[in-house]
Amino acid sequence: MDLKKNNFTRRDFVKGSSLLAGGALLMPSLLTATPLMKKDKTLKLAIVGCGGRGTGAVSQALKADENVKLVAMADAFEDRLEKSFDSLNKMFGKDRVAVKKSKKFVGFGSYKKAIDEADVVILTTPPGFRPQHFEYAVSQGKHVFMEKPVATDVAGIKKVLNAAKLAKEKNLNVVVGLQRHYQGSYQAAHQQIQKGAIGNIVSGQVYWNSGGVWVRPREANATEMEYQMRNWYYFNWICGDHILEQHVHNIDVANWFMGGYPIKATGIGGREVRKGIDHGEIFDHHVVEFEYESGAVVSSQCRHQRGCKNRVNETFQGTLGTSYTDGGGNAVLKTYDGREIYAHDNEDDVNPYQVEHNKLFASIRKGGVINNAEYGAKSTMTAIMGRMATYSGKEITWEDAMASNHTLVPDEDTLSFNSIPPAIKDKFGNYPIPVPGKTKFY
Ligand SMILES: NC(=O)c1ccc[n+]([C@@H]2O[C@H](COP(=O)([O-])OP(=O)(O)OC[C@H]3O[C@@H](n4cnc5c(N)ncnc54)[C@H](O)[C@@H]3O)[C@@H](O)[C@H]2O)c1
Repeated sequence: MDLKKNNFTRRDFVKGSSLLAGGALLMPSLLTATPLMKKDKTLKLAIVGCGGRGTGAVSQALKADENVKLVAMADAFEDRLEKSFDSLNKMFGKDRVAVKKSKKFVGFGSYKKAIDEADVVILTTPPGFRPQHFEYAVSQGKHVFMEKPVATDVAGIKKVLNAAKLAKEKNLNVVVGLQRHYQGSYQAAHQQIQKGAIGNIVSGQVYWNSGGVWVRPREANATEMEYQMRNWYYFNWICGDHILEQHVHNIDVANWFMGGYPIKATGIGGREVRKGIDHGEIFDHHVVEFEYESGAVVSSQCRHQRGCKNRVNETFQGTLGTSYTDGGGNAVLKTYDGREIYAHDNEDDVNPYQVEHNKLFASIRKGGVINNAEYGAKSTMTAIMGRMATYSGKEITWEDAMASNHTLVPDEDTLSFNSIPPAIKDKFGNYPIPVPGKTKFY
């Protein structure tokens, strides 16, 4: 959709835009009995997974509340931890980034030591480890910001759903990094759809078609486990494939706007251009049809191929009109004869990555409860179901997938850099690639 052709003036459509950041979904529960956390109480923050996103999330947490201090850091690798520490230290200084040498934890299992030190934890490792980290954080009574996806296998999803329940019982706040839920344009479009602006949704299309991401080549003397941990995007047990890792954002919008989760999925996929020695085992394209209870079908496409048309957005067709949204802050709803129902003015919208932390810390201070873990887990599960469909070539139902013992990730506490990882290469250095019709999902 070419937004320039939409012929709207920003100001004409502002009204709805300030439904904004605090939409109903984000409202803390009124039933909570959590005590207020006064502004003068310093909140101790820890991070597990000090990469690009984790470092950004700490910075957003420190900006969200002036009485937060980073006190502990954990990463599988010392060089990653120190790089993150240096950059945060430069930005915020040692009063806010108050991490003593003895509170920098490295290696497998380091998550427990960092989580133990904090009131609030940021979980930003690759997703394979998230269920174990989240489960531990909740068991220790910590508030959580965790990135998407929240697992790579069904066993992990079940762990997250159970921990989500426990978090509710303990009145803990859990924000999940599906930031479109915290973005003004998406909140406004959702609100319009709830109001019936385009009638009942009968179909949709969601996309993450792009050129792909980084590759981290094998370093001399690295063990196989170290190699997979550094080049994690290409290994399913850690990453889950890009249908999960990135496209979960758009799949999650489909679930949110549809108001439910699909009952089944069929799809096709494979790898056409992703054939290098460091490309592990993931596909470079997936196309899935998700069918919802109402009979509505949402088609999902994700592609990592350079030189093709890029597209990252969502469209839905209702009985009365259409909706278009994208991560750039655009939301446009129209009737079928082209009349604009709503077009979002994003001028005053706050960066959703910042809003996530503003909401989290405000809720902790107020004694409120935000809990995004259930929809985070179910949208991740939707993407897993899509991957099961493209890998196996079979129709996959939600019920069967959830009933399976599908497990990709070993218990982190049993791992070392000398362990044999779940993905095993052949004598030529190639990893087994899923083959539709042969690969089983369980
Ligand atoms: N919401 C968003 O828009 C968004 C954007 C980027 C990344 N993310 C998510 O954030 C997560 C991290 O992505 P990234 O880009 O920061 O990756 P990254 O590779 O830059 O960072 C991940 C870090 O986790 C560390 N790590 C791996 N396993 C660990 C373990 N068991 N214990 C401790 N540390 C461990 C790695 O060494 C690395 O430093 C992913 O789930 C990704 O999907 C979300």
